[in-house]
Amino acid sequence: MKFEIITLFPDYFALSLRQSMLGKAVEKKLFDIQIVDLRDFAVDKHRTVDDTPFGGGGGMVLKVEPLDRCLASLGFEHLADMTERDEKNRIILTSAAGKKFEQSTAIRYSLCSRLAIICGHYLGVDERIMSLYDIDEVSIGDYVLTGGEPAASVIVDAVARLIPNVLGNFESALDDSYMNQMIGTPCYTRPSDYKNIAVPSPLMSGDHKRIRQFRREEAIKKCSVNRPDLLEQAELSSEEEKLLAEFSAKKNEK
Ligand code: ADE
Repeated sequence: MKFEIITLFPDYFALSLRQSMLGKAVEKKLFDIQIVDLRDFAVDKHRTVDDTPFGGGGGMVLKVEPLDRCLASLGFEHLADMTERDEKNRIILTSAAGKKFEQSTAIRYSLCSRLAIICGHYLGVDERIMSLYDIDEVSIGDYVLTGGEPAASVIVDAVARLIPNVLGNFESALDDSYMNQMIGTPCYTRPSDYKNIAVPSPLMSGDHKRIRQFRREEAIKKCSVNRPDLLEQAELSSEEEKLLAEFSAKKNEK
């Protein structure tokens, strides 16, 4: 799989995407990341890539010509020349106004051969680029960033870790909170006792069934506090429903 990140700030990615698990995975050629400097596709000698918006108002808008030239140079076809949607080669535009990026979106993109990500810009991108190419406008959450670079970084991370062999332990990807529509269980490591706070005994028991059950129950409790919306979609057994009711009643007593 190949990520192509189209940005005005290539240095932003120099360190972040070369660190830790992702850096190692790139070294092992499990996927590739190409950083593309949009200024290389400017049409004037000042390498201008943005301009003020028609109709007035503050902020700058990414110009359509450099983006068009850039996507064409990466080999993407114009919509007018396409016969069907190309699921394997997607273009993303990061934007606060885009569709919400979720774990299900990351799974879908992890099956692509190529993912080009245009880092949006304050105020935005000339809308005509959306008529020229088949682009998914994607938001990483309900807040506004100054630029799309952090969003691109989040998307690459969430997608890349789903590529086979990127994670040392693939079970942890399957175990992901959002894969199961539930937030992760609390976890602990050595020492077993710290400032008189002991690690919960089921985790020290060596009994795998007990450990699994404890983790699931704790995940349900945490989810009910932090993300009740996720819990509504989760499939709970009648035992778990009972546990949740007891936990909620106790919480309300406090
Ligand atoms: N650009 C600005 N805000 C953003 C957001 N929340 N997600 C993606 N791109 C953005």
